[in-house]
Amino acid sequence: MNLLNVENLQVEIGRGPNSVKAVRGVSFSLAEGEFRALVGESGSGKSITGLSLLDLLPSKSVRRADRFQLENLALPNQHHGQWRKLRGNRLAMIFQNPMTALDPTQKVGWQIAEPLCIHRGLSRRQAWQRAIELMERLAITDAEKRAHRYPFEFSGGMLQRVMIAMAIACEPQILIADEPTTALDVGVQQEVLGLLNELRESRGTAILFITHDLGVVAKIADSVSVMYAGQVVEQGPVETFFTGSTTKELHPYSKALLAAVPDLSGGKPLQGIAGQPPDLRRPPSGCGFAARCSQRMEICDQAPELFHDANGDHRCWRWHEAFQTYLSQQGQVRGAQHD
Ligand SMILES: Nc1ncnc2c1ncn2[C@@H]1O[C@H](COP(=O)(O)OP(=O)(O)O)[C@@H](O)[C@H]1O
Ligand SMILES: [Mg+2]
Repeated sequence: MNLLNVENLQVEIGRGPNSVKAVRGVSFSLAEGEFRALVGESGSGKSITGLSLLDLLPSKSVRRADRFQLENLALPNQHHGQWRKLRGNRLAMIFQNPMTALDPTQKVGWQIAEPLCIHRGLSRRQAWQRAIELMERLAITDAEKRAHRYPFEFSGGMLQRVMIAMAIACEPQILIADEPTTALDVGVQQEVLGLLNELRESRGTAILFITHDLGVVAKIADSVSVMYAGQVVEQGPVETFFTGSTTKELHPYSKALLAAVPDLSGGKPLQGIAGQPPDLRRPPSGCGFAARCSQRMEICDQAPELFHDANGDHRCWRWHEAFQTYLSQQGQVRGAQHD
């Protein structure tokens, strides 16, 4: 069963002609226990997509969707009260930058404990105890002592772990993790991933994992959504992208992303792809990737819709029925490599 269904999500930041069309029609679902990776170059709208799911967008943003369904609860487009009750409780986020999530004036132990009092009705003592347990699980040594400290007394990696403890304290149904391991050393990264994996296995937590690390995606994700210029350009089960990707056809952008990673197992960060993504203040009317695409066709001046096949969704004219027919007439087998 799906815990979350999002259809045609749109986010515009700012007003007037220079507003940023940061998210331009994103649809996806999260099933119980699903680990969905959200990948794409910097600026493609991943963080804004994540933040919009918690109603934490920058001020002067407008968010619209045809559907925002959390289990049986249909969420309204711009009603902040209802989202506030869900945040930290049924929906939680691990932010890219811990300082945006933590209150500099509060002891970290209390910041982890507070949502447990508010949403779970624990006493302050019980919640404090639970906070220390969570800190210990995240390998924060001297947790009892450290719980009394303030954020500025922690290193970056340590703060990241405090924030993860905060996010998972109430065992949310849906956890959005925005590049949560980027600042951590490899050992701690592994621990954090193990913990997230355990959460989804034991509690059925659905995880939307925003990352640059395709190695992690290949290892742990069930499904992948690839974002480009505010849109999902391709999504499907993880096998679509990693196993047999030499026989399955991929969106030219996904191909370029994968080609930019020299060694998946090494967890190397994305290398650049030639050219620039479009300016999201003035998104192109056609395919946003066309200007950088080696397989560009005339029709790419028009915006492709999201086409579906057995491997997932693909926003590229190559999946249009007419193009498929053309390919088969040329004697090319569907799924063959074109370059
Ligand atoms: N607070 C903000 N004000 C204005 N524009 C923003 C703000 N935050 C993000 N953006 C813009 O929204 C777009 C998507 O950004 P973001 O979601 O942060 O990308 P990603 O997380 O994929 O790197 C970018 O063009 C970015 O410049
Ligand atoms: Mg981001």
